[in-house]
Amino acid sequence: MSDVEYVVELSPGGETFNCGEQETILDAALRQGIELTYGCRHGRCSTCKYLVEDGEIDLGEVTTYALPENEQDAGWALLCRARPLSDLLIRDHRLPDARALPLLSPSSFDAEVAAVTQLTPELWQLDVALPAPLKFYAGQFVELGLPTAQGTVWRSYSMASPPSSAARLSFVMKRIEGGAFSGGLDTLHVGQPLAVRGPFGASYLRAGTRPVLLCAIGSGIAPIMAMLRDAAERGDTRSFSLFYGARRPQDLPFLDELRAGFGLKLEFVPTLDGLEGGDAWDGASGTVTRAVQHAVENARDIDAYLCGAPPMCETVSRLLSAKGLPAEQLYFDRFFAASA
Ligand SMILES: Cc1cc2nc3c(=O)[nH]c(=O)nc-3n(C[C@H](O)[C@H](O)[C@H](O)COP(=O)(O)OP(=O)(O)OC[C@H]3O[C@@H](n4cnc5c(N)ncnc54)[C@H](O)[C@@H]3O)c2cc1C
Ligand code: FES
Repeated sequence: MSDVEYVVELSPGGETFNCGEQETILDAALRQGIELTYGCRHGRCSTCKYLVEDGEIDLGEVTTYALPENEQDAGWALLCRARPLSDLLIRDHRLPDARALPLLSPSSFDAEVAAVTQLTPELWQLDVALPAPLKFYAGQFVELGLPTAQGTVWRSYSMASPPSSAARLSFVMKRIEGGAFSGGLDTLHVGQPLAVRGPFGASYLRAGTRPVLLCAIGSGIAPIMAMLRDAAERGDTRSFSLFYGARRPQDLPFLDELRAGFGLKLEFVPTLDGLEGGDAWDGASGTVTRAVQHAVENARDIDAYLCGAPPMCETVSRLLSAKGLPAEQLYFDRFFAASA
């Protein structure tokens, strides 16, 4: 492997970092403690879109949905995909985030499966034992690497366990039939090797005094479980409202824990949008978007965290913005698929 390194300068601030020609510009920045904005890390969400003002890059594999051709022509790049071909000057459009915690630079570990449990017809819990504790913030994710005959399959999963249990991470995964990673959940066995790299993500629970709105469907509950468990351990006194959507009663995991409220001021609103005759359910019905629409009159003075399916995150974010939520009080953990 070539060890050519280029210098990347952020403009106008003048901050610089090195980037090998084999690594993505985002990975190089995070490795050197510079937190560029990003989300999915695999070219889907456009959060890492930056303007390359000078220099040559290899754009990498990008879709025209995430980076339209006219933007590619104008010099925009997705830094989670792009690699340098020369020294670079990149326009830094980041906005200050007064509540951001110090960047935890990601590292790589060899780990192993500690437990696999089916929670609901679709959702599984995977526990992974690490050789050493991983420092992370509640709401962050890691990339798990599953060795297969075709090479290692890397996928992102948000921790459901709190940072205090950092040597054993729990994940909540939707099993997708045929999915390269999740499709094999039912065949994983204790002791099976997995690779882990992380932590990643900026959608972690911020400190503050405002009420916190949490919204998820399906496996989007994972980062929210981490946030609530962590908040409980820290004795967080804020009020939390959790809007959680599923199809039928049997699709709701962690019901006892969520209903008990973790010792927090937690309003838990499960809502079901696929009820069938005979389902025993006296809670809310309909989508989480509808539940948020009914419950929230004015969103100006809340912090909101939206987790899981990207279309739900977009719809609820538009709704909350229309109800006055300032952009800097909105955090996303959007589960973009790595494959088409
Ligand atoms: C930041 C981040 C955090 C994430 N956290 C979690 C998490 O905590 N729990 C979790 O379950 N997933 C999470 N995901 C999604 C996860 O990374 C994988 O994309 C997902 O598990 C599918 O991977 P796979 O290899 O099983 O399927 P693939 O082989 O990648 O895909 C197989 C097929 O399923 C389709 N597909 C992919 N996702 C879905 C879906 N959700 N529903 C229906 N079809 C789908 C694909 O388009 C493809 O056609 C997260 C993603 C990101 C970017
Ligand atoms: S982080 Fe690069 S496109 Fe999502």
